[in-house]
Amino acid sequence: MSEGKKTQFDTIVIGGGAAGLMCAIEAGKRGRRVLVLEKASKIGKKILISGGGRCNFTNVSASPENYISSNEHFCKSALARYSPQDFIELVEKHGIPYHEKKLGQLFCNGSSREIVGMLLKECEAGSVEVRTNSSVSKIERGEGFCLTLHGGEELLCASLVIATGGISIPKMGATGFGYDVARQFGMRVTERKPGLVPLVFAKEFLTKIDELSGVSIDAIVRCNGTEFRENILFTHRGVSGPAVLQGSSFWNEGDTVTVDLMPDFEIAKALKDELNKNKELKSFFSEYLPKRFVQRVFELWLTNQPLRSVSPKDSDEIEAFFHGWQLHPSGTEGYRTAEVTVGGVDVNEISSKSFESKKVPGLFFIGEVLDVTGWLGGYNFQWAWASGYCAGQFV
Ligand code: FDA
Repeated sequence: MSEGKKTQFDTIVIGGGAAGLMCAIEAGKRGRRVLVLEKASKIGKKILISGGGRCNFTNVSASPENYISSNEHFCKSALARYSPQDFIELVEKHGIPYHEKKLGQLFCNGSSREIVGMLLKECEAGSVEVRTNSSVSKIERGEGFCLTLHGGEELLCASLVIATGGISIPKMGATGFGYDVARQFGMRVTERKPGLVPLVFAKEFLTKIDELSGVSIDAIVRCNGTEFRENILFTHRGVSGPAVLQGSSFWNEGDTVTVDLMPDFEIAKALKDELNKNKELKSFFSEYLPKRFVQRVFELWLTNQPLRSVSPKDSDEIEAFFHGWQLHPSGTEGYRTAEVTVGGVDVNEISSKSFESKKVPGLFFIGEVLDVTGWLGGYNFQWAWASGYCAGQFV
């Protein structure tokens, strides 16, 4: 490190998103001199756009089973030390009205801006300095860390926290900065892929289903041993909707996705019960599924016929189709629309207690930059708050 006038901080947090701000708040409470450096023109951009502008800020039932990581045990300690209830108390302390939408997902009644405002107030209370339009061009390690900003200013700190998130939505400024820092210090980064992302199909199949765009069905999506029951939604490029987004985080190239289009429905029995009615298969299924979809199914994959002529073999075939529709996606929509990045800085090289690198004392990684990815439904913010809170006790 070269000598000269450098401002000294106890802790510098790179990334003013959910995890970085939470960590800064906690460190500030401990009396540490904290600086947050945010590359964008404003902090918490992903918080602002999340949950359709209402921020699904946590999930009341968040637990380790709701997270994907190459080390499934890593997230346990932080999630136990900072629970959804802890964040709810903070939200209530600031008088922010919220509600549960479904499946334990908590949203602001008003706007995500209230969550960002709350975090800023907490930063102020802890005398945390927050700088926007600030990014780092160089990090050097000596006794602590010396950061050179674009523009030339040099800063020193004892603890350096990387909270730069994943690479989803590059249009919003997401970069691989955090992974580059990990690599610079000889740490491993696991393979990454877009998660919580719509699935797409090759042209041949797409032409069969593209006119279904906008159709939504309550279904169970199964992929790689996991299953999610919620809606699936047909799009111009393939399939989306909460059940598909959830499944996408488990999907790898070449995998088949199986969709149960009529969960809990005993098709063979129902067909038998209505055997004597003067009805065709198409009108029977149109009572339970969107007409447009049923129409397409009987044009492409099944044969329409009167219920009374359905043989036991036909019935089995029909049952198998609706309970186990097989989809073969050609890919995902990619980071352009993915809500998260699956994979990241290898957590086996990070302390699950302090979030400090085991190889590089003083260097911390928190939030989405790590190889910990939550399900859809407030779990990713809970991870950001929990990891930020825990690191904040040590940085
Ligand atoms: P986050 O990405 O929030 O913050 C990282 C910050 O670092 C950013 O502000 C970025 O600009 C900054 N940065 C990057 N590189 C930098 C550099 N080199 N120097 C300085 N700063 C840098 N989750 C959930 O639980 N509920 C929800 O409702 C939603 N909704 C949602 C909608 C959409 C459209 C997306 C894309 C994502 C969600 N998510 C979500 C996921 C959630 O937003 C995400 O997991 C968290 O924001 C991750 O928090 P982090 O603080 O780790 O990263």
